[in-house]
Amino acid sequence: MGDADSTTTTAMAAALAIAAALLVSLPVLYSLLLDKTSRKKKKAIPPGSFGLPVVGHTLTLLRALRANTAEDWLSRRAAAYGPVSRLSLFRHPTAFLVGPSANKFVFTSPALTTMNSEAFSRMVGRRTVRDVAGDEHTRVRAMMVQFLKLDAVKRHVAAMEAEVRRHLDAHWRGRAAVAVMPSMKALTFDVMSTVLFGMGRDSAVRRELSAEFQQLVQGIWAVPLDLPFTRFSRCLAASRRGRRAVAGVIGERRAKLERGESSPADDIVTHMLCKGLPDEEITDNVMFLMVAAHDTTAALITFLLRHLDANKDAYAKVLQEQQEIARSKAPGEALSWEDLCRMRYTWAAAMETLRMVPPPFSMLRRALDDVEYGGYLIPKGWQVMNATTMTHWDPAIFPDPGRFDPARFEDPSAIPPYGFVPFGGGARICPGNEFAKVETLVAVHHIVTRFRWKLAAGCDGSFSRSPMPYPSQGLLVDIEPIH
Ligand code: HEM
Repeated sequence: MGDADSTTTTAMAAALAIAAALLVSLPVLYSLLLDKTSRKKKKAIPPGSFGLPVVGHTLTLLRALRANTAEDWLSRRAAAYGPVSRLSLFRHPTAFLVGPSANKFVFTSPALTTMNSEAFSRMVGRRTVRDVAGDEHTRVRAMMVQFLKLDAVKRHVAAMEAEVRRHLDAHWRGRAAVAVMPSMKALTFDVMSTVLFGMGRDSAVRRELSAEFQQLVQGIWAVPLDLPFTRFSRCLAASRRGRRAVAGVIGERRAKLERGESSPADDIVTHMLCKGLPDEEITDNVMFLMVAAHDTTAALITFLLRHLDANKDAYAKVLQEQQEIARSKAPGEALSWEDLCRMRYTWAAAMETLRMVPPPFSMLRRALDDVEYGGYLIPKGWQVMNATTMTHWDPAIFPDPGRFDPARFEDPSAIPPYGFVPFGGGARICPGNEFAKVETLVAVHHIVTRFRWKLAAGCDGSFSRSPMPYPSQGLLVDIEPIH
C-alpha cells in the first residue's frame, strides 16, 4: 500500500473508534441528561405558604414594618422554613432568602432583574436608572457616577459645608428643640439641589420643587389608589407639578447650552442633555436621584444622632475627634478633604448605625427565568427578596448585635463578604455612597461641635418603617448651643 492509502485507512480506523466510543457512551450521556432534566423537574419550590388569597402576606408585613417588628416576623419565618422560603407580597409569589450568600445571589445573579413597586414607578417614573438593564444601565449609571465618584465628591465638600452651616443657622440656632429627621431631609434636599442639579439657593424652581418633593415622597409607599382624596392621588398631583418644574430646569439648561454659557461638567442635568438622554428620562432620573438620596442620607444622620445620645462612650469619642479637628482650624475656616479623612471614628459610628438601622430594609428583584438557589427552584416571574437587617443582626457575624459598637468597623476586613450590605452590592451597588458619607461627616462635624442634644420629653427614640425608618416625632430633641 502507498502512503495515501495508509493515511486513509488510519483516518477511517480513528473515525470508527470515535463512532464506537460515542455509541458506547450514548446511553450514559442520555441517562445523565435525563437525570439532569428530571432532577430539574423534580426541584421543589421553596417551603412556606402564600398566605391569604389576594392579600397574601402584604398587610401582615406592612403592619409589622410600621410597628418595627418586621425583623421578628421574618426571623420567625426563617426559623420555621429555613433560609429559603416562599411568601406572597403585593400579589406576587416571592422567594424570601436569608444570609450573606443570599445577598450575593440577589445582588449578582444575572437571572434576576431589579423592580420597582407600582406606586414608586407612578410617582418617580418608569425610565429611571433602576428600570434599565445591560448597556443602557451602564450608560445612564456612568452619567451619574461622573458626579458621585470620589474625585467629584471631593470637589463638593465646600458647597456641602456651606449648605450645612446655612441650614443649622436657619433651623437650629436660637431654637430650644428640633425634629431631626425633617431637618435632615430638608438639608439633604438642599445639598442635592446645589451640588448635583446646580439650583442655587435663590432659585424659585428649587423652592417650588422642595415643597412638591416633600409631598410626593410620602406617596411612594402608599397604596396606589388614584381616587379623589386618597394620599396617593395628592402625592401624584405633587409629582406631576414636580416633574413640570424639572422639565422647566431642563429647558433652561438646554437654552444655556445653546448660547454657549454652560458645559457638561456644570451639573447632572446639563451632562445628561449633552449625552443625548431624552428629556423624559432626564426627568425620571432627577426624580430618582432625589428619592434615592433623600430619606436614606437623612435617616443615617438622624439615627446616628439617636445612637450617640443613647451611647455616651461613643458620643464622647466622636466629640473628641470632631473637636480636635475644629481646634486645628481658624474660626470659620472650611473643612478640607484631609479633615474628613481624619473622621475615622465618626464614620465607624455611622457604619454601625447603618448596620443596626439600614435605610433600605430589603432588596427586591424579579426572576427573569427559572433559577435555582439553595436547592430550590425559583420559577420565572417570581419576586426575590432578601432582608439586609437579618444579616446585619446575625450574632454569628456581629456578636451581641443589639449593642452599638463602632469598634466593629475599625477593621472592616473582619466582616465576611456580603455580611454588611447597607449600600447593596454588585453592578447596582449604591453609586451615592461617597456622597452620603461626605454629607454625613460634614453635618455631624457641625452639629456635634455647635450643639448638645437629648431626646425631648415624650420622645422615646422608637421608630417605624414604611419601609424607610422614621423615628417617632421625627426624633424631637432638646438642643443647646456649645459656646
Ligand atoms: C446612607 C445613604 C444611602 C444608602 C444607605 C443607600 C442605599 C442604596 C442601596 C442599598 C442601593 C441598591 C438598591 C438595590 O440593589 O436594589 C442603592 C442604589 C442607588 N443609590 Fe443609594 N443609598 C444612599 C445614598 C444615596 C445617595 C446620596 C445617592 C445619590 C446622590 C444615591 C443614589 C443611588 C442610585 C442612583 C442607586 C441605583 C443604582 C443602580 O441601580 O445602578 N444613594 N442605594
